[in-house]
Amino acid sequence: MTATAAKRELAPGTAAKLALFSAVLWFAVGVTFGGITRIKMAYPDFLSGVPWLTFGVIRPTHVDVLILGWISMAFAGAMYYMTPALCNTKLWSERLGVVNIWLWNVGMVVIIATFLNGIMTGIKYHEWIWPIDIYIIFFVMVPLAVNVWMTILHRKTKGIYVSLWFFAACLLMIAVTFLLGSDAMGWTGIASAYMTWWYAHNVLGLWITPVSAAIAYYVIPKVTGNALYSHRIGHIHFWAIVGFYSTPGAHHLMAAPIPEWIKSFASVSGVLILIPALAFITNILLTMEGKWHMFVDNPVVQWSLTGVLFALPLNVQGAFQQTRAINWYIHGTDWIVAHAHMALLGFSTFIEVGAVYYALPRLLGKPLYSVAMARWHFWLTALGFMGFWTSLTTAGLVQAAGKAYNTPFDTVLAQEHPYNVAAIFFGWMIILATWMFLYNMVKTATAPVPVAEREPAAVQATG
Ligand code: HEM
Ligand code: HEM
Repeated sequence: MTATAAKRELAPGTAAKLALFSAVLWFAVGVTFGGITRIKMAYPDFLSGVPWLTFGVIRPTHVDVLILGWISMAFAGAMYYMTPALCNTKLWSERLGVVNIWLWNVGMVVIIATFLNGIMTGIKYHEWIWPIDIYIIFFVMVPLAVNVWMTILHRKTKGIYVSLWFFAACLLMIAVTFLLGSDAMGWTGIASAYMTWWYAHNVLGLWITPVSAAIAYYVIPKVTGNALYSHRIGHIHFWAIVGFYSTPGAHHLMAAPIPEWIKSFASVSGVLILIPALAFITNILLTMEGKWHMFVDNPVVQWSLTGVLFALPLNVQGAFQQTRAINWYIHGTDWIVAHAHMALLGFSTFIEVGAVYYALPRLLGKPLYSVAMARWHFWLTALGFMGFWTSLTTAGLVQAAGKAYNTPFDTVLAQEHPYNVAAIFFGWMIILATWMFLYNMVKTATAPVPVAEREPAAVQATG
């Protein structure tokens, strides 16, 4: 290789670094939109004179920036980092990875700009207009999938570790989900309602849930130094996700005028989701054997394992709330919003944050700037989330009782107000912590001297 060609080649890890940094930035932006939305829910006149900050605009902006910009981009960063490491080779194309993430960032800016100008479909979890679907498929999904698949094909290892099964399959499943759920498919009427939830449910079940788990399957054995407790259970988890997660989408539509048998099927088959969930949680907890002290000592394990532990109440709650006996009562209330945050903030985000604390210092070749800040980040987020979840669940129960007893709407609003105020307080604890996270990562990247000299504990903390 000539000197110029070597110069032109990007250093391994460039794409992963860019993806993880961008993801953390979108995380901070996304939760801030959520924070403003939260204030409006308790004080509707807050910023009411600013048209681009009306509730209907910033609520979907919050949700989509976090799902596509934070969670999914953190997945891309994790895949770009973990796939070559697990294949004992380089990423197939570092350059394609970098271009992929820049195009993804451009897409995020376009999505936010269109939303803030009121250009959106109104379809939940899919508010961007269909040309953006095409953009996402060709410039976000295809390059990421090709790069990961080609790296796996060129692997220098014998077997395929369970995380790679998940990465490879989920990239295919999300592409199919996305394509069929696109507004461009022209679904109408009941089919449109069904496909909206088939799509949204599969984004959760065939993308966010399994990829988060795959990341934990990598991080926990790496940091603890223990081998994964059981590859076989990992494979049962994988096939149970493929087999059982895509069928119960209609449990989101228990109150909708769709055929009753579809609802019954969804409600009963949804219980089977507990199989992959329990397989995953058990596998990780048993991998921790003899290393439980790291749950306290090590920020990476603390974040990742807390996420894994949140999966237990999350899935039990899910199975419980999809039954007809319960669903009519809590549907359409803040109970569900609390469940959604237990899923995407409690379970998934905690695992991704663990992965960022694991991978970014390694990619940068520098220790974490401040472990103290990482500790503050953890406790503000964990306590903030528990307060946030409790306030929303309580508000949800107040709303459900109001619905059941036909209480006038303004009375219910007055009764739930204290919980909405509490949710603002706890929510902003999380937002503050997230900006602190971004600051810590930027300082880690820009630190001119080995941080070890400033804060010795930081050296061990990430590994
Ligand atoms: C056994 C497992 C689970 C079951 C049976 C389940 C069931 C449900 C049901 C029935 C709803 C809709 C309730 C309603 O609107 O009336 C719901 C909402 C939701 N679930 Fe789960 N859930 C489970 C696990 C998960 C997981 C693992 C995630 C993601 C990581 C997740 C994310 C969500 C989200 C984001 C919503 C809110 C959807 C909306 O916008 O309305 N759930 N879940
Ligand atoms: C990683 C962090 C977060 C993720 C992934 C996330 C995700 C979501 C999702 C999926 C929904 C839709 C839920 C549903 O309709 O059932 C939602 C709604 C919402 N989120 Fe978040 N969220 C996060 C953090 C926050 C924070 C920190 C706040 C507040 C400070 C917040 C405030 C809100 C509000 C106000 C809504 C609208 C609720 C409603 O319309 O009733 N979120 N978020």
